[in-house]
Amino acid sequence: MLLIKNISQLLLMDKPDFTIIENAYLLIKENKIYDFGEMNNLKLERKEDYQIIDAKNSCLLPGFIDSHTHLFFSGTREKELEMRLNKESYYEILKKGGGIYYTYQKTKEKKDKELFEENYKKLLNVLKWGTTTIEIKSGYGIYPDEELRHLGIINQLKERLKDKITILPTFLIHVIPKDIKREKYIQLMKKTMEIVKKEKLAIFCDVFCEKGENTFNEKESLELLSYGKKLGLIPKIHANELYYSKGDYVAYKVGCVSADHLIYPEVKNLKLMRKKDVVATLLPGTSLFLQMKKKPPINLFKRLKMKIALASDYNPGTCPIYQMPIIISLGAFLYGFNEKESLYYGTRGNAYALNLQHKIGSIEKGKEADLIILKYDNYQKMFYNFFENPIKIVIKKGKIVS
Ligand code: NIG
Ligand code: FE
Repeated sequence: MLLIKNISQLLLMDKPDFTIIENAYLLIKENKIYDFGEMNNLKLERKEDYQIIDAKNSCLLPGFIDSHTHLFFSGTREKELEMRLNKESYYEILKKGGGIYYTYQKTKEKKDKELFEENYKKLLNVLKWGTTTIEIKSGYGIYPDEELRHLGIINQLKERLKDKITILPTFLIHVIPKDIKREKYIQLMKKTMEIVKKEKLAIFCDVFCEKGENTFNEKESLELLSYGKKLGLIPKIHANELYYSKGDYVAYKVGCVSADHLIYPEVKNLKLMRKKDVVATLLPGTSLFLQMKKKPPINLFKRLKMKIALASDYNPGTCPIYQMPIIISLGAFLYGFNEKESLYYGTRGNAYALNLQHKIGSIEKGKEADLIILKYDNYQKMFYNFFENPIKIVIKKGKIVS
């Protein structure tokens, strides 16, 4: 058994205003949380062998979960950032063949081995910053063969890293290529989804539902996600990121596990989403990096008692931040959640967005021992020092991994 003792603050993530046990212990048996409580109540069994971690002056909480990333790519887009600062819009740049099309080119140039190596390195850094479960979308392959190649490498990474970080692959239908007619591309993507499902390359499917000629409208998104769901892929959606684009309604209609971004949702559609318990996944790193003045209506989400998640959206164009402590802090600084809410939405909230709430995301007996120890004696210091890595130890399935 592994005993973590003298924990300054044990953060349970039982609710947004979560319970804190001070001067606590936590016991891990095999890969599960076995017991926890106040140090005064700790009783050790003689016959057991204990490995001990002294967590004096430290906080213990569930590992961060990142339910929305585009981690698999090659190349950077700093030129595009400058263009945006010079007032060119994200969508204008995309329309001209930049943005996602640029990353498609840069990723396509790389061999399998190179893509494996560079994305493997990124994932070790992600782990160092405390993320123990991560969703990774494809979407920079655009064409069927290239999409399948990317998903194949994402699955190799998943296998190689399975004892350190859980990877959940998503097939993302991202943008329409310039040389294929949209109707034809939709049919092509449906066929590709069949292969993705048959070869078990992804758990989720996703669509970039947005106004404009390069992305997918309400009807097309509905068609694609319904098809994916019928095949057995769990649908997610990029909804209402740049305009009022009805992705929120599609999320309800299809029954998506989450609708992500939601900068421009409509009240009536949020009410519908709530009926089907669709998680509102918010991505404050993207708001920062796109310098978006409009913020998601968080008071409305709360009033409707919607489930909320805070994730990174890590990608080369709209959010180069993969560090969940920074994202969680931005949830507070930019979107106005309090610190406890932000932490809860960055752990338990993301577990809901990945349909893993029964396994991870909170401190409960029997849940997976995916845990992080912060180098601070209270969680507020993580927000105060949001630019620094707060992680002392990462535990995955009961083992120290970073
Ligand atoms: O969530 N909106 C679509 N996908 C990403 C951006 C991808 C990119 O620009 O490379 C997003 O913001
Ligand atoms: Fe995204």
